[in-house]
Amino acid sequence: MITLTRATLTGAELDSLVDICRSQPEYWRSSGDQDPDAMSRAAVEVMLREDAEADGCETVVGRDGEGRVVGFAQLLLRHPIDGHPWIGLLLVDGRVGRQGYGRAIVAAVEDRFRADGATAVRLGVLVANAEALPFWEALGYRQIDLRPDRAKARPTRVMEKLLLPACSG
Ligand SMILES: CC(C)(COP(=O)(O)OP(=O)(O)OC[C@H]1O[C@@H](n2cnc3c(N)ncnc32)[C@H](O)[C@@H]1OP(=O)(O)O)[C@@H](O)C(=O)NCCC(=O)NCCS
Repeated sequence: MITLTRATLTGAELDSLVDICRSQPEYWRSSGDQDPDAMSRAAVEVMLREDAEADGCETVVGRDGEGRVVGFAQLLLRHPIDGHPWIGLLLVDGRVGRQGYGRAIVAAVEDRFRADGATAVRLGVLVANAEALPFWEALGYRQIDLRPDRAKARPTRVMEKLLLPACSG
């Protein structure tokens, strides 16, 4: 079971998020967003705060049944052009990879967006991040575009999943 809470980016939660960022060096190498060999707590905090505090954005933390932070997701609640919610970044603790936590965090994010009335979720996967593509495909996301990302013009696959309404009763 996974619970999502809005990130506070303070105290023990921040310590966990820093450890999680450090546990995925290949991601930072392929994206070029951080030098994985020099990820200070302060640098990670600045990066996380920039994303969490940007207009229309929110960072959520995923905790397992025992309350341990196992990953986080950065959300754009409504894309200014297509109107859909986007997952900006999902990072799962590399020390507990491939145990279903990524799938569970995404399912919880989709549930939240569905409850807010969204009909689809989108996200960008850097072409350089070949590791992540089979993950998103396994979760039902399909490529709908290939274009440079807004931040750094890196070739990026735009992925989309249609959200079916929740069953009632
Ligand atoms: C991608 C990432 C979020 C996956 O998280 P995870 O918790 O390890 O993934 P899960 O255990 O939930 O995997 C769910 C399914 O995705 C697929 N999958 C996950 N990782 C995969 C891999 N490396 N290769 C092939 N398929 C993979 C599998 O079908 C898996 O189900 P299975 O284990 O029952 O076969 C995690 O590896 C990560 O944080 N990577 C670095 C950051 C990143 O690339 N984020 C995504 C870009 S926004």
